[in-house]
Amino acid sequence: MRFKILTTTGLVAFTTAPAAAQFYDMMRFQCNQLVVDRIDPLVNPGLAPSPHLHQIVGGNSFKPDMRPETGHDLVENSTCTSCTFVEDLSNYWTAVLYFKARNGTYRRVPQFVSEGLRGYGGITVYYIPPYDGKSKVTAFKPGFRMLAGDAAADFEDNKVQKLCHRCMPKSGDNSNINCGAPDSKSLPKTPCEGGIRSVITFPTCWDGKNTDSPDHKSHVAYTSTGSFDTNGKCPESHPVALPQVMLEVMWDTRIFNDPELWPEDGSQPFVWSTGDKTGYTQHGDYVFGWKGDSLQRALDARCSGAICSQLKVQSSEEAMRCTKAPVVPEDIDGWLDHIPGMEHLN
Ligand SMILES: *[C@@H]1O[C@H](CO)[C@@H](O)[C@H](O)[C@H]1NC(C)=O
Ligand SMILES: *[C@@H]1O[C@H](CO)[C@@H](O)[C@H](O)[C@H]1NC(C)=O
Repeated sequence: MRFKILTTTGLVAFTTAPAAAQFYDMMRFQCNQLVVDRIDPLVNPGLAPSPHLHQIVGGNSFKPDMRPETGHDLVENSTCTSCTFVEDLSNYWTAVLYFKARNGTYRRVPQFVSEGLRGYGGITVYYIPPYDGKSKVTAFKPGFRMLAGDAAADFEDNKVQKLCHRCMPKSGDNSNINCGAPDSKSLPKTPCEGGIRSVITFPTCWDGKNTDSPDHKSHVAYTSTGSFDTNGKCPESHPVALPQVMLEVMWDTRIFNDPELWPEDGSQPFVWSTGDKTGYTQHGDYVFGWKGDSLQRALDARCSGAICSQLKVQSSEEAMRCTKAPVVPEDIDGWLDHIPGMEHLN
């Protein structure tokens, strides 16, 4: 299967490409919910509970401390993955969305699966090679990890880049451009017929040396001239071209669309698990865990969609069976007085 992309702007859903679009190959596959838990092995290794709740997909070796120096090895220590490709034992995680009712209680927003895929909640993961259709990219090295977005972003600040929300129509995409209009960095201001889609796009340039950095960001960079999808160049400080990792999460806000449930002051009722109502603190974490050179082979072969001659695929049923129990025992799903870890907000 080939996916369609607009050269100058960004992604197009594969079912709804405009006539002018060109064809490019990109990996796009479902990773089912592994667990929803209040840990963050990248930013707060060893801390349980960590400050806020996350939803996590991928290999089942996920735990509070996964630093390589502890001997943790995602490939060796996982016995299954919730993702389509069995050689992908990486972990990917994002914040979780809550709905705030008029009476002040909170309810976690369920997740659903992107159009055209099968599974349970979780994340649609993309690995996108350069859009010129030929340049080589270097797959990540063992121990590689990175963070996109800022959970502590000033709620008044909208400097965050490559993170956005789309108010989805009943079905299909309502526009072809990810993070272009009508997408917004802030959470949508009106009820969305098809739920809310959030998109997190990681940097595509690497310093070529460090698999991590103290802020989990400075070893990578976004392109310095033009964007990735216009074949923008990497800065000299970060010369190595990486594939573009992109996470897409579908939030089923449809069950909260009754105007009677929305705040009487006209504001919108959704809050990230960071306690943020603006939307700016949306963030994504990535810990690389592909087996051997499987990702490099898949990229070199320009694999597309969820089928790849270079990779083993498991059934949706099998992928959904890969789950794990949360480490932090707490109620995350009733009508709650506060979002987990956010006692101070009420
Ligand atoms: C994880 O894998 C490493 C490398 O094979 C091994 O030394 C370690 O004992 C494993 N840890 C667990 C908890 O299985
Ligand atoms: C608060 O509001 C929600 C949504 O209307 C409702 O389901 C829940 O029962 C209410 N809780 C209390 C304690 O009134």
